[in-house]
This record gives sequence, structure tokens and C-alpha cells, in this order.
Amino acid sequence: MTGNSFQSADSVWEACGAEVGVEVRVGAGVMGEYFLGFCVAVGKDAMASAGNVCVGALTGMLMEVGFVSPVQAVIKKQTNKVRINRRFIRLKYSGGKLIIDEILCYTRSMAYQGLLHKYGTLLDLPLHTSASAVSLLEGNTPLIKADNLARQLGGGFELFIKYEGLNPTGSFKDRGMTAAVSEALGRGATTVICASTGNTAASAAAYAARAGMKSIVLIPQGKVAAGKLAGAIAYGAQVIQIDGSFDDALTMVIEITNKHPICLVNSINPYRIEGQKTSAFEICDVLDFAPDWLCLPVGNAGNITSYWAGFKQYNQMKATGLPQVLGVQAAGSAPLVLGHPIENPETVATAIRIGKPARGEQALQAAEESKGRIIAATDAQILDMQKILAKLEGIWVEPASAAGLAGLAIEIANGTLDPKGKRVVAICTGHGLKDPEIITKDMQKPSIVPPKLEALEELILG
Ligand code: F0G
Repeated sequence: MTGNSFQSADSVWEACGAEVGVEVRVGAGVMGEYFLGFCVAVGKDAMASAGNVCVGALTGMLMEVGFVSPVQAVIKKQTNKVRINRRFIRLKYSGGKLIIDEILCYTRSMAYQGLLHKYGTLLDLPLHTSASAVSLLEGNTPLIKADNLARQLGGGFELFIKYEGLNPTGSFKDRGMTAAVSEALGRGATTVICASTGNTAASAAAYAARAGMKSIVLIPQGKVAAGKLAGAIAYGAQVIQIDGSFDDALTMVIEITNKHPICLVNSINPYRIEGQKTSAFEICDVLDFAPDWLCLPVGNAGNITSYWAGFKQYNQMKATGLPQVLGVQAAGSAPLVLGHPIENPETVATAIRIGKPARGEQALQAAEESKGRIIAATDAQILDMQKILAKLEGIWVEPASAAGLAGLAIEIANGTLDPKGKRVVAICTGHGLKDPEIITKDMQKPSIVPPKLEALEELILG
């Protein structure tokens, strides 16, 4: 396959025409592009199937075969576009019923256009949301196979890390924020507000900036990691520190948005939940099925609620099955494990330092319905897992993001979760760069040597 040139057909694929016994040969084109206006002429009436055809990397699989329209109109349109694009593919068909055997199509780059574009039709969002889509091309994060860590945990199972720290602002919050801020913008809101342990603040600030909206973020004083605070400031938010906890800040933003026309973008906002469902969709799209177990950290409990809703929706639509959900809280902030709110939550995993989760009930329901559970991991276990993950897999996450895996390790060690032969996905919610101090604080200081080869040899070779 090559691009920008008119070539003779060289590969043969089954296409939409397969329904009518047509074989399609595609000659030139560029791997990973949509062939727009793909046409197959069939039958006496000269009707055509036309739609987007995706050429997947190396496989040449055809997908997304679309609508039907009169062939002449399609060809005319394509011909015009071809002139503009100067990018061609030539389609040849064989098969008894064909009346034309060659057409031109133009191609368009298959560039990723963000979550609302990709999954918007599956999300319960008001119509005005997509019309005003605010996107930083969030989502589409990698699902990384973690064989080294799986071996370290006893082996015999497949472990994948969904690395949500690779979202545009460094955490999974961007999935919900593209939906919530687009919806707010679409109905004419001018200001968004949230309470946050840091990541929601940075994400809200970035999406509001892109939408031309004002953002106000309330954070617990002194308990937000440097990378998150810096982000919120850089994106232009009005940052207000509360001399209290996240839970106090959340109460305040609920109160103020009840009184004033400011849009709340915490995960109480249902559109945040809708947007965050997309990670479950992506996992099923990559693995073809839901995993056996899903492990993730739990703070305000919006994310576990979203995953469960997402997996259930995909299962209804595509029979992808359901995972058992292992939610993990930090031991010093584990209201859902202890069964009561915590007045003064404490943990080194500041992202999940939350004593009264807004969606606690739904989190417990997700755990129960999925035949999973919510457990606690100590700060030591969380930090230990953070280091192991970085050292064994090259994946550096912020402490809270290691909680899901820490919980998995605890369950395996206790013999309460047997992963043998299973497929496990752990959600790593935020990037390590969000909270560099936690590592540098007790890190060995790097050695200093004079700029001499002997000194370097001495140090490296001993
Ligand atoms: N992991 C990270 C990195 C987080 O920032 C959060 C929540 C969670 C996990 C837990 O997700 O709240 O949906 O259960 N951070 C929120 C914030 C509270 O303000 O950034 P959850």
C-alpha cells in the first residue's frame, strides 16, 4: 500500500459488497486512513453502498460499512473531491452482478478526534453537547501488558495496565471533563467550578480554558500534589485553598452552585460519569471482552461507578461480559470498607484522601453486583506497588494510581483472589509526574563525579 499515487489493485479484501457477493480490490492508499465514499456498484438499479472504510494497520480489515446512496451521485461527489485531495484508491470488483468495475475514491486522514467523536452516540448526553464539543483528544489510552509484574505476583495470569496517566492533563478526569464542559458550554454556561484533590482541578481548568470559560477550583490546603496545583494554575483557574478537607470543599461547591449559575463539574455531574464510561468501552474494544477482574482506586467513587455502567452497557450491546470489580481505598481514608464516613481522612495517596465519597452507594453496588469487593491498602503497600510498577514495567504512576494494583497484590497474597488463568486489568489513573516529591523525598541523591572518564569508570565499574 502506498499513498498519493494511482496504483493497480494488488490486495483483495472482502468488503461490504460481500453481502451481495462482490469482491473488492483496493490498490493504492495509506495505511490507517479512512477511504471515504467507498462505493460498490451492484445490480441493475446501479445502487451503491457507500460509507467509511477503514484500513487497519497491516490487516487490511474493512470496517464501518455505511449507508446506501445512488452510485452516480456518489461518484460525482468523489470525483470532485479527488481533484482537491489528489489522493486516490482504485477499486476493482469481480462478481456476476457488477455493472461498473472501477471507481475512484478519495481518502481522509483517520486521525483520532477525541472521545465525544468516537463514543458520543453511546453516551447519554444532551444534544447540545456534541455541537459544542471541547476536546483535547483525551482517551484512547494504551492497555499495556504487564508480564513482569504478573510474574512478580505469582504468574499464571494476564495482567494489563490501562494507563490513564497518558490523558492530556495526566489523569482519567479528562474523559469526564470533555463531556461535562462541552455540555456546560452548549447550554451557555460561562463558569465551571469543582472541589478537588488536584486532578479534577487541573482537568476542569484545561477544558474550561479551551472552551473560553472561567474555572474556579477549591482544593484542600497543603494536600494537593505539586504537579496538579501547577497544572490548575497554568491553565488559568482561580485556585482557592480551603482550610479543610476535600469533603468540606465539595459541600461548598454544591452549595454555591445551588445558589448561583455556575456549573459544577465534580463527578456528581452525570455527564462526568457518561464520559468516564468510555474507558470500559476502550478496554472491551481492545480485548474483545471485558476482563475477569478490574482493579482500581476509589476516592469519591465516580470512576468505579462509571466503569461499572460502561461495562454493563457494552455487555448489553455487544455481549462482552462483565468483570468482577476490586475497588481499593487507602487504609486511612476507607469509608466504604469501614462502613462509615471518616472525619479526618489521611493518606499519602492524596488523590483519594476522601472521607465521604459522593457516589459511595453506587460504588458498593458495583462491587456487590459484580461479585467483587472494596478493600483497603496501607500507604506502605501503595508506595511499594508504585515503585515495583515503575521498576518492573517502566510505568510511573502517582501513589493513588497504584492502589488498584496494591489491592490486587494483597488479595493474591491472602489467597482471596485466585488469578490463575484469568485476565486482569488494573486502572492506573494518574501519571507519576503529578506527584514527583513523593519519590524524590526518600530518593538516594544521584552521585556527583568530576568530568573525567576514570571517575565515571570507577563509579560504574567499581
Ligand atoms: N486516582 C486518581 C489519580 C484520582 O485523582 C482520583 C480522584 C481517583 C483515583 C479516584 O477516583 O474519585 O472517581 O473514585 N480524584 C478526584 C480529584 C477526587 O479531585 O481529582 P474517584
